[in-house]
Amino acid sequence: MTERWTPDSWRSKKIQQVPAYPDLEALENVEQQLAGFPPLVFAGEARKLKRQLAKVAKGEAFLLQGGDCAESFAEHSADNIRDFFRLFLQMAVVLTFGGSSPVVKIGRSAGQFAKPRSSDTEIVDGVELPSYRGDIINDIAFTPESRIPDPRRQLMAFRQSAATLNLIRAFATGGYANLENAHRWMLGFVKDSPQSSRYSEIAERITESLDFMRAIGIDPETHPEMRTTDFYTSHEALLLGYEQAMTRVDSTTGDWYATSGHMLWIGDRTRQSDHAHVEYMRGIKNPIGLKCGPSLKPDDLIRLIDLLNPEDEPGRLTLIARFGSDKVAENLPALVRAVKREGRTVVWSCDPMHGNTIKAASGYKTRPFERVMGEVRDFFAVHQAEGTHAGGIHLEMTGKNVTECTGGARALTDDDLSDRYHTYCDPRLNAEQALEIAFLTAELIKREHQSRERPAVEAAE
Ligand code: PEP
Ligand code: CO
Repeated sequence: MTERWTPDSWRSKKIQQVPAYPDLEALENVEQQLAGFPPLVFAGEARKLKRQLAKVAKGEAFLLQGGDCAESFAEHSADNIRDFFRLFLQMAVVLTFGGSSPVVKIGRSAGQFAKPRSSDTEIVDGVELPSYRGDIINDIAFTPESRIPDPRRQLMAFRQSAATLNLIRAFATGGYANLENAHRWMLGFVKDSPQSSRYSEIAERITESLDFMRAIGIDPETHPEMRTTDFYTSHEALLLGYEQAMTRVDSTTGDWYATSGHMLWIGDRTRQSDHAHVEYMRGIKNPIGLKCGPSLKPDDLIRLIDLLNPEDEPGRLTLIARFGSDKVAENLPALVRAVKREGRTVVWSCDPMHGNTIKAASGYKTRPFERVMGEVRDFFAVHQAEGTHAGGIHLEMTGKNVTECTGGARALTDDDLSDRYHTYCDPRLNAEQALEIAFLTAELIKREHQSRERPAVEAAE
């Protein structure tokens, strides 16, 4: 029998990646305040997302999840949110049209603040200080005071999440996401990029289709689904005190939901089945993600699925594979087979970022575009071979023209990294690189569709 779950039952378990708050009274005070704040999302929205993810699990849709590695207080601006959102819309359009597949859109945004770190401390020029753990916990500046975990930052993160979500909701439902605007979503600097003519072609096809539909009496004025879009938020549920404070009972079902975002995921470093993060996540009813890295064994994965989705509810669990381009072909099949053998319903998504981080000669952490795309390709190839659905991609990306990942159509080199390296944590794909991934992935989705149809053709011969 499983033990009783409560929003705070994680507190009696072992836990990794916890910040050492010096002032526990101040922490408790903040958690109490948060518990009284309004929820950021509603249970009904989380359920709607779960239904859409259930379609992905069945092979009828594709998941696009992406955004900053870490959101920051300093980069919180309307321009950044707009540039991110319209890049996301462009990518979704490319995947929908190119891949002839509905796209479920989830941002790593409006709450993606807390970061797991490989080491508790960081050494710069011989000085050792506590690691930066994300703006919700401490400050990135390399001084002893900045690195002290400050609970008041959680209130800032909450308010920033609310403001970000407010603008995203306005964009998603207030007209900006209207398909008739597809031409206008082109970002200024992407206009002269290698992707721009391909994107313009798609936007042209959308305009033609909309003109045709208008001619037969279907237009965005009478069909709201053409002028609005469903956009959801997600983040890693790392800072459990914050998550607990935002956990509420849904009055219609009596179930517990995390209300800090629509979807939460468990990081690769905190997925021990008897530890705090898995304990917290098993009790909330939101759709959830689980990062699956090279150290995850098939038996452990099945145990985690038993804990996290005991009733095999479709759309509840997204497995986010993040092996690295050199490991995915070797490691992923055993996990896919174990899940298939046990008859479990999951969404398989590919995070081609976290297994492909390298240190450039210049000292910058970077990710070569070819490795990122290589992992996506191998991920699709594994699913093709296993007869399962390559369900989605999970990217670290920004709408800004940064220089953090090398390669792509503009062939950014190590020497370019210092130009606009702005990330607070891991290197992100810039807008052009992200759009390029969308085009290349759309081709892979198309191929998956064709190979599903082919056996029937062969049988008919
Ligand atoms: C992340 O998604 O930012 C992250 C830390 O990933 P992982 O847990 O897979 O390392
Ligand atoms: Co990251």
